[in-house]
Amino acid sequence: MLRSFFIQTVGCQMNALDSELLDAELRRAGYQPAESPRRADIVLFNTCSVRAHAEEKIYSALGRLKNAKQFNPRKIIGVIGCMAQKDRQLIFRRAPQVDLVVGPGRLHRLPLLLRRIADGGGPCLDVSADRSAEKTESLLGSFVPFTPLRVAEHRPVPHQAMVRIMSGCDKFCSYCVVPFVRGPEQSRPAAAIVDEVKRLADAGCLEATLLGQTVNGYKYRAGGRTVALADLLAMLEPIEGLRRVKFVTNHPRHMTDGLLQAVRDLKKASPYLHVPAQSGSDAVLKRMKRGYDAAAYREMLVRIRETVPGAAVTSDFIVGFPGETEEDFRRTVELVRQARFKNSYIFKYSPRPKTKAAELFDDDVPEAVKRRRNNELLAVQNTISLEDNRSLLHRTVEILVEGPSKVALKRTDAGESIQLVGRTVCDRIVVFDGPRKLIGQIVTVRIERVEAFTLFGSTLELTE
Ligand code: 5AD
Ligand code: SF4
Repeated sequence: MLRSFFIQTVGCQMNALDSELLDAELRRAGYQPAESPRRADIVLFNTCSVRAHAEEKIYSALGRLKNAKQFNPRKIIGVIGCMAQKDRQLIFRRAPQVDLVVGPGRLHRLPLLLRRIADGGGPCLDVSADRSAEKTESLLGSFVPFTPLRVAEHRPVPHQAMVRIMSGCDKFCSYCVVPFVRGPEQSRPAAAIVDEVKRLADAGCLEATLLGQTVNGYKYRAGGRTVALADLLAMLEPIEGLRRVKFVTNHPRHMTDGLLQAVRDLKKASPYLHVPAQSGSDAVLKRMKRGYDAAAYREMLVRIRETVPGAAVTSDFIVGFPGETEEDFRRTVELVRQARFKNSYIFKYSPRPKTKAAELFDDDVPEAVKRRRNNELLAVQNTISLEDNRSLLHRTVEILVEGPSKVALKRTDAGESIQLVGRTVCDRIVVFDGPRKLIGQIVTVRIERVEAFTLFGSTLELTE
């Protein structure tokens, strides 16, 4: 008998991609998507471990499903993704209603495990080996990159696709749990990536976003040749139908001149560079084990601006890292002021088990100070984002129309013309009114009003 499933996803784009791929795999295995977790026979939480807050929210959501099996005794509750790898058996102890715990390196096994549970096999745990206990060689077989074949009819948005080009991370920044939960860095064969993007483009995909924890560190060796990200971008360039290639997330140390030249020279490589700085203080960067100082980051920014003048650069910052003084924080503010990022994501430090920072340093910046620094940095960044967007007023931009805007989704307009949202090649969000049929197309829009995070405009096609 067919069973229904619902996947609830939090966290980064890697998780969003894992959920999309898993959704397709489950449909292929004969399961049907359900409208809500309540109605579903199988509820899967695809989880994030980067900060404690994300984990607590999942434990609360699991708590709300405590009695779900009274109404549906066949219901299967699963925790997958980073928290599954990190907390393992602890999840069964904290939430005994959970039937299934599967790490990000074991997702390929999920259809099989679901069948086992449905056949009465009892609760099931499948996670990769413990990275802090094993050698890299023995870990590789245990963290299996999840790259099932994409099926066009199961894709949610035909015109855009995320494509994994790397999994895992070997950087071990002192605050970060990712190397432990997503395992060793593995670059996917270039030929497999090109093949996947070709298939996606054949099925109508205009924009591919290449994903990796340190995507610009992509390196695949085959036949005595090494393919770097710049080479991969050049290999994707001739793919017919494909119009844009984005890539996230970059590490400052791998921002080579070769890559910047590729972004400058290739028509399809988007001049949008997300390169997290994390801090503007050398002392903090050192304790974070980021492998660069503020001067090196600034030097990289100069190279970006020289080689790709119109590039949109974005960043991540952590405030309240152990030992961060007011002076350290001032240096971060100074960097944000100078760098003129298009936008920055700002996070309050959250100690993560197993990481060096949690082992070595006290979480000694009080919550109120973290909050104040977060708000202050955000205010500085928002002013810059707004000024930056103002430079686009009355100009025309090309956008890929993604779908109805949040406002339009809330209304149930039956009309053909609705509020739509799209993105520029630099990842700027643009909202405008237009017919639904523009969804999935690249159109030209004139910008008439701007906010810090959104541009508002109207389509030239309709007005002229
Ligand atoms: N606490 C707070 N923020 C973190 N990040 C990663 N680990 C932590 C942590 N322990 C942030 C970094 C990273 C982004 C994805 O999340 O800024 O770039
Ligand atoms: Fe985490 Fe650093 Fe790897 Fe990014 S580069 S995933 S911050 S360890």
